[in-house]
Amino acid sequence: MARILKEYPSVVLKPEYLDGKIDFVRIFGRAGPVHIEIGTGKGAFLLNQAKARPGGNFLGIEWARKYYRYAVDRIGRWGLTNVRIIRTDAASFLADFIPDNSIDCFHIYFPDPWPKRRHHKRRFICPANLEHLVRCLKTGGQLKIATDHADYFKQIKQVLTVGADQCACPRLEQIDFLPTASADTGEWVGTNFERKYLKDQRPIYTLAVRKI
Ligand SMILES: C[S@@+](CC[C@H](N)C(=O)[O-])C[C@H]1O[C@@H](n2cnc3c(N)ncnc32)[C@H](O)[C@@H]1O
Repeated sequence: MARILKEYPSVVLKPEYLDGKIDFVRIFGRAGPVHIEIGTGKGAFLLNQAKARPGGNFLGIEWARKYYRYAVDRIGRWGLTNVRIIRTDAASFLADFIPDNSIDCFHIYFPDPWPKRRHHKRRFICPANLEHLVRCLKTGGQLKIATDHADYFKQIKQVLTVGADQCACPRLEQIDFLPTASADTGEWVGTNFERKYLKDQRPIYTLAVRKI
């Protein structure tokens, strides 16, 4: 029998109640490094990472109602106080609500690849969204991306880098992608999709950059 998913208002940010740029200290009730995961799915990474790094403040953005509700239920049941989640489109949320120089790390793991050419314009990693990601990062802040999709990874590299390790945006430098705190042995990030794809022995491509 399907489990009844509970709502936990204290972990949820409601887009309709947002008024201008977000004050993360108010949202989390304390100062601390702010991590944002774009496209949390069922929330495995967000939860495990927040548990592994109790000093960090973690915000998940997920627009699919089914996954969002699942993640809310999990965050509430785990009783973590350093996680919040919002159901909205990450592109407009970034543009409208995230202040400049406020984020320590963006995590974008297995973004929807939109494999058909006519749908490529829907891919999240594009020059317009990169501009906002860079604007929102603190100096020294990181953008970490992982995908199993070779063609999307090619586009990601085109948007982010111009040479082997030279970034297209002068405010970014490429850095080594280190496995996240919650990744198990052999994993880069420990999301649901990564675990599924590793079982299928698909290659995983990663890229990390830092704002300078
Ligand atoms: C392929 S899944 C990966 C989920 C998770 N990151 C993982 O690795 O298991 C991509 C997720 O991103 C969400 N998503 C895609 N575009 C989004 C957007 N613009 N804003 C918020 N969520 C988005 C989708 O609903 C989906 O849950």
